[in-house]
Amino acid sequence: MKKRTGILLGLDILLLCVFAEAMVEKYNTKAVFNTMQESKKIALTFDDGPNAEYTEMLLKGLEERGVPATFFLLGKEVEKYPDIVELIHQKGHLIGTHSYEHVNLKNLSDEAAIEQVDKTNAAIHNIIGEYPEFIRPPFGSWKSNLDYETNMIEVLWDIDPLDWKTNNAGVVTKRVVDKAKEDDIILMHDASESSVEAALEIVDELKEEGYIFVTVDEIIFE
Ligand code: NI
Repeated sequence: MKKRTGILLGLDILLLCVFAEAMVEKYNTKAVFNTMQESKKIALTFDDGPNAEYTEMLLKGLEERGVPATFFLLGKEVEKYPDIVELIHQKGHLIGTHSYEHVNLKNLSDEAAIEQVDKTNAAIHNIIGEYPEFIRPPFGSWKSNLDYETNMIEVLWDIDPLDWKTNNAGVVTKRVVDKAKEDDIILMHDASESSVEAALEIVDELKEEGYIFVTVDEIIFE
């Protein structure tokens, strides 16, 4: 059995070499080596949705680029726009929880905080048939005992371009692209045209730099 694996592995390597050689011939050596070295993962996340005006615009742009993202949804909005939630799911994005009505969970009793999570998870489950596993607590404010109480995995972020504070997509794009590094999680909001524009520009620029966009589970469980 072991020997067979060895042979198969050998074959794989051989095929990879043949492929790499073909690519070198087709393009140029430098481009191929850049692609091989720089397959760095990065994740885009969007909070506070679904948004009736902008989520679909974002989904369309992500689809055109073949890029998945993670959406941390508010239970209250999920109940208002189930079709958009369904669409996010259908397009292959990951859905997480962002509380029911954007509250600071640390200021609530455990019971009330758990209710915020459970109500949102139930609303999402009603639509997509799956319970979210990840939570982005509003304001990044979470009590660690709630990991256990709710069975949720907390997801914070590495880059926050404060996209909600400006309508200048170029500024938001620059803030993210300048800081980006491997395995970063980017915090954004699909709540304005400039944020959607910036997100798509970020995808285009970071793809150029060899980044591969993934959902947050692929970074957290690495
Ligand atoms: Ni939020």
